[in-house]
Amino acid sequence: MTTASPSAQRSRRPRVIVVGSGIAGLVAALGLVDEADVVVVTKAAVDDGSTRYAQGGIAAAVMPGDSVAAHVADTLAAGAGLGDPEAVRVLCSEGPARIRELIERGVAFDRAEGDPGGGFDAGLEGAHSRRRILHAGGDATGLAVETALVRAVRASAVRVLEHTMLVDLLTDGAPGAGAGAGSGADGRGRVVGVRVLRAGRIEDLTADAVVLATGGAGQLYPFTTNPSVATGDGAAAALRAGARLADLEFVQFHPTALAVPGSPLVSEAVRGDGAVLRNSAGTRFMVDVHPLAELAPRDVVARAIATEMLATGAPVLLDATAVDDLEARFPTVTAACRAAGYDWAREPVPVAPAAHYWMGGVATDLDGRTSVPGLVAVGEVACTGVHGANRLASNSLLEGLVFAHRAAAALCAELHSPSGMIAPSQPSASDARPTAPSHEPTRAELQALMWQHAGLLRTAHGLLEAQRTLDSWSVDTSRSTDVERLETANLLQLARALVSAALAREESRGAHARADFPLPSPDFATRPRRTREEVSV
Ligand code: SIN
Repeated sequence: MTTASPSAQRSRRPRVIVVGSGIAGLVAALGLVDEADVVVVTKAAVDDGSTRYAQGGIAAAVMPGDSVAAHVADTLAAGAGLGDPEAVRVLCSEGPARIRELIERGVAFDRAEGDPGGGFDAGLEGAHSRRRILHAGGDATGLAVETALVRAVRASAVRVLEHTMLVDLLTDGAPGAGAGAGSGADGRGRVVGVRVLRAGRIEDLTADAVVLATGGAGQLYPFTTNPSVATGDGAAAALRAGARLADLEFVQFHPTALAVPGSPLVSEAVRGDGAVLRNSAGTRFMVDVHPLAELAPRDVVARAIATEMLATGAPVLLDATAVDDLEARFPTVTAACRAAGYDWAREPVPVAPAAHYWMGGVATDLDGRTSVPGLVAVGEVACTGVHGANRLASNSLLEGLVFAHRAAAALCAELHSPSGMIAPSQPSASDARPTAPSHEPTRAELQALMWQHAGLLRTAHGLLEAQRTLDSWSVDTSRSTDVERLETANLLQLARALVSAALAREESRGAHARADFPLPSPDFATRPRRTREEVSV
């Protein structure tokens, strides 16, 4: 890719780089391709991200008797007072139209038995007031969605660069450069491209705008349902480019990952279909914890399981032996159980919490704009405000779908406005990476520290200990072309930001639980309002 003079730019198509190839990245790419030259940059194979592992499905108000208002109410309740009502309204009201588009792209959501042309076979998950989770292939929803979107992208003019890692965002370093371009929050300028690692070499790719869709950072923890690529590369690069990040203390731990290496997810929909949790004595302990028992909000179930595990020193058991059609309804989980040597139709299986979803991320407005001009964020890397302090189950694919569609539409309009395209001048990458090694941690050391002190239950003492340790660590990435080292540096940077946010929030709310501040506090009951000045492309 090359840069062009401002006059030449007016007569050429704008270029957009989308980083990440899950649901949000691919929907954004497809929404942009008629108006721009679009390149998708992705760290592994195109379908290797978190989307393909999503099991439960996509929540949307499409079932008879359901309503947008009910979906909004459930989403805001799960968000524990921090959900942004306007973002949630957008999510729930635009969701059904986006689902119809997915069906048109060939996603065959499961239908109720004997009703092939009619109703969906919607599932139930924790904290939903009714059955509204659409699924495909039983529990292979993410795979069905990813496959359809990859097919559409392959048939389009979108160019896909696989095995290409985002190293940094390029900024022009010139506050106010370009007509109407504005500058980043800290004056570092506009994002004008990406620095990537490809086939062992560092390359700079310039563009008129960059869409981050890099997913989450489950690899901050040793136990996670996320794939190995979820190392927060986009969030860390955005931080270095001066973007505002928000809600970083809120990490959702899924209550039921199979307690075997790799922590394979056991969908909440299994509990929605009647599976129960038992402690090592065989007792259904959730009945005494919450009126919704096994279908209580995720954070409640995850902490109750952790408490049982601490008390007994053993994983708890998920008993799905009474669930009908287990294998047909949950083929992915059945295969994971089998691979671990369990027949879950006959015996309860050991489960434990695992890091699952990061509610925090790069702060955006309702069209994906971040606080840095030229930078858009969608999907898990973004913080739109829809999830607040705790994400409602199966709202994440929907968020990726709805907000990537909106971001693409807004970006198309802006790139074609007279001031929308700018001339990148002397792109440079941020130099904010730590470079002077003190102790260089292994990935496992970093993960163990985060699990111990910034996991399911936190205290000021533990968080301060984590902060001290993190501050004494660094990863030298100067001129590094080692993927794992670059990833660990990103995780270290994000771990520091997460721990600071968790220390500052002296209360318990949603997924953030502090043993030293066990209750929600009115001092932390509102989220900062986005101002127009904070977000701009
Ligand atoms: C699940 O199937 O339990 C996961 C769904 C989600 O995290 O939204």
